[in-house]
Amino acid sequence: MTDSAIISPNVSLDEISLPEPLSLGVLASGKGSNMVTVANAIAQGQLNATIKVVIYNKAQALVQHKAQAFGIPSVFCNHRDYSSREAFDHVLVDTLKSYGVNWVIMAGWMRVVTPVLINAFPNQMINIHPSLLPSFKGVNGVEQALAAGVKITGCSVHLVQPEVDSGPIIMQAAVPILEGDTTDTLHQRIQQQEHHILPSAIALAALRQ
Ligand code: GAR
Repeated sequence: MTDSAIISPNVSLDEISLPEPLSLGVLASGKGSNMVTVANAIAQGQLNATIKVVIYNKAQALVQHKAQAFGIPSVFCNHRDYSSREAFDHVLVDTLKSYGVNWVIMAGWMRVVTPVLINAFPNQMINIHPSLLPSFKGVNGVEQALAAGVKITGCSVHLVQPEVDSGPIIMQAAVPILEGDTTDTLHQRIQQQEHHILPSAIALAALRQ
């Protein structure tokens, strides 16, 4: 039994050179391993970009410490302080623009976003999701795949459109579900692939612009 992944398109960062550096803004709600993978690709000279700011919406989110370790500014925006999703997204837009961001990366951003945010960065907003979209959209993509009994799941990176976890797919990795997998073991293997594809998918999306 193998747990190797199939990645499509199977491009690596060495094959993509971006003439202009991207100014990234990362939105994250959790531990920030995907933000770290992007920051590492930049630090290693593989991805021509800068992370201008990390915005997080949960006071305890570990991503803030990881941003700090890379010297990346982080800003706490608490959605609970706003009366509507739109009002919150206006604040996100203002913050991202104030840092000169032109590409927004939702790296574990556990909030539904509105056209207020999406239209401020047309075709320059990317999301990573732990399933093979269009299957298992929403907050519990890994649990849903296990509960459904599918034998292959994975992760997807896509451009963001107003409907949750939808929009043109840039890159996917397929991950087999193994006998005895739990949400944690499966999510760990999916995350390895997320870390593999996210930096390449960002570069690919920018190249296609
Ligand atoms: C990732 O697995 C990402 O796919 C998922 O949150 C995790 C964040 O991990 N996103 C979603 O479920 C969005 N619907 P990280 O904080 O370690 O990057």
